[in-house]
Amino acid sequence: MTYETIIVEQPADGVGLVQLNRPRAFNALTGALMDELMTALESMDADDTIRCMVITGSSKVFAAGADIGEMAQAAPADLIHMDFIARWERLRGIHKPVIAAVAGYALGGGCELALACDMIVAAENAVFGQPEINLGVIPGAGGTQRLARTIGKALTMEMVLNDRRLSAAEAERFGLVNRVVPTEDYRDAAVKLAAEIAARAPLAVRLAKDAVNMALETTLSAGLAYERNHFYGLFSTHDQKEGMAAFLEKRDPDWQGR
Ligand code: CAA
Repeated sequence: MTYETIIVEQPADGVGLVQLNRPRAFNALTGALMDELMTALESMDADDTIRCMVITGSSKVFAAGADIGEMAQAAPADLIHMDFIARWERLRGIHKPVIAAVAGYALGGGCELALACDMIVAAENAVFGQPEINLGVIPGAGGTQRLARTIGKALTMEMVLNDRRLSAAEAERFGLVNRVVPTEDYRDAAVKLAAEIAARAPLAVRLAKDAVNMALETTLSAGLAYERNHFYGLFSTHDQKEGMAAFLEKRDPDWQGR
């Protein structure tokens, strides 16, 4: 498959990487780019040789948001017909873990794309913000919801209502990102994290992601029941028998994903 706005690589065993690649437009997220990104992720999700994915931009910009030129003259009906934001929801259907490797600007839809990933590795030069208020609109790809659930109401209000931007260090302090690394290392650090996860028991990783995400969707009682079902269900797998036998026999497990 050839892509025009993204670059797809396999930088380590079990790791698929998608680089957003519209450098002259600061990786502004056109509908075409989002379609390519989602198609690439879905194809990796179905590929047995890939077990964890990384989305990244360049060392200067992750993504500066949805493409303003593309939507400036749009009417609501145009956005609906284009499926402008709905295509972003496809990321929620990805079963394998997705890590955002963020350097430079992650603004508007760029911040929302990172937030929709399962983890974020940030470079020291990363900047997170929701500047849509400057354009007379609000975040449309999950910013108000995911930020409020992640960093709380007070700071989210400031970011969304008044374009308060977070440095990488602030993002780490407020729990938005998993770790901050020197800018020259951000991509390697994300690939290393992805490779570590890729080497783990695939079914357990998949159900773990699913159970954690459920915590953000449901009540505690329903979430605990959901987790327990996944836990019990994993006892039907080869990898549970293998993992526990390997522990007792003091050897490394041989995961088979079944
Ligand atoms: N859409 C389209 N083009 C964009 C863009 C965007 N979101 N962000 C940057 N660009 C383009 C600029 O138009 C410019 O193109 P030209 O060279 O052809 O003029 C190029 O990228 C470089 O931008 P600047 O000259 O502005 O570079 P800078 O270094 O001075 O500033 C920036 C960089 C801070 C990222 C600034 O470009 C900026 O503020 N961009 C817009 C950020 C924004 O408002 N994002 C929210 C978009 S709306 C959204 O995302 C809705 C949603 O929730 C899904």
